Amino acid sequence: MKIVAFGASTSRQSINKQLASYAASLVPSAEVEVLDLNDFDVPLFSQDKEAEIGQPDAAKAFLAKLDEADALVISFAEHNGSYSAAYKNLFDWASRIRQKVYQDKSVVLLSTSPGPGGAKTVLAAAAGSAPYFGADVKSTLSIPSFYDNFNVEQGKLSDPELEQALLTAVAALV
Ligand SMILES: Cc1cc2nc3c(=O)[nH]c(=O)nc-3n(C[C@H](O)[C@H](O)[C@H](O)COP(=O)(O)O)c2cc1C
Repeated sequence: MKIVAFGASTSRQSINKQLASYAASLVPSAEVEVLDLNDFDVPLFSQDKEAEIGQPDAAKAFLAKLDEADALVISFAEHNGSYSAAYKNLFDWASRIRQKVYQDKSVVLLSTSPGPGGAKTVLAAAAGSAPYFGADVKSTLSIPSFYDNFNVEQGKLSDPELEQALLTAVAALV
C-alpha cells in the first residue's frame, strides 16, 4: 500500500506535517511519501486569474501525487477556526481541475494545534465536506496540545492513550 501524507499547511516546521508523517509511519509495511505543500505553489485563486492562466502546473502536480496513493493521511492546521489559506487555495485550484480531488481514496483525517482544542473545528469541517470531494473517510482524530503530547525530537506521540487512538485511526486503512 502506498500512503501519501501531508500537513495542510505551508509552515516550514508544520506540526500537522509532523503528525501526518508519524501517523502514516504506523501503518504496517506501507510505502509512505510525505508531501510538503511548499512544493505546490499556486497564485491566489480567482476566476479572473483562472481565465488568465488556466490550470496551474502545481495544482496538476498535487493531484498527480494524490493519484499515486492507495490511501491518504491528511492533518489540518487550523487558522481562525478554518483551513490554512495555503491549503484552501491549493484545494480550490485542484477542485477546478476535478471535483473529486481525493479520487475515491481511503482517507484518515487528523488535526493538531498547540492549544487544547487540537484544531477540532477545521477537522469537523474537513470531515463533513471531504466525501463531496471523493474521500472515503475511514477515521478522524484530533490531537490537542501538540507540544505536551508529541515528542518533536523523537517524532512520535508521547501520550500512550493518544498513541493508541492514532493506531486505531490508521488501522482503519488496512
Ligand atoms: C492566523 C492564525 C490563526 C490561528 N488560529 C487558530 C485556531 O483557530 N485554532 C487553533 O487551534 N490554533 C490556531 N492557530 C495556531 C495554529 O494551530 C498553530 O500555528 C499551528 O502550528 C498551525 O499548524 P502548522 O504548524 O501545521 O502550520 C492559529 C495560528 C495562526 C497563525
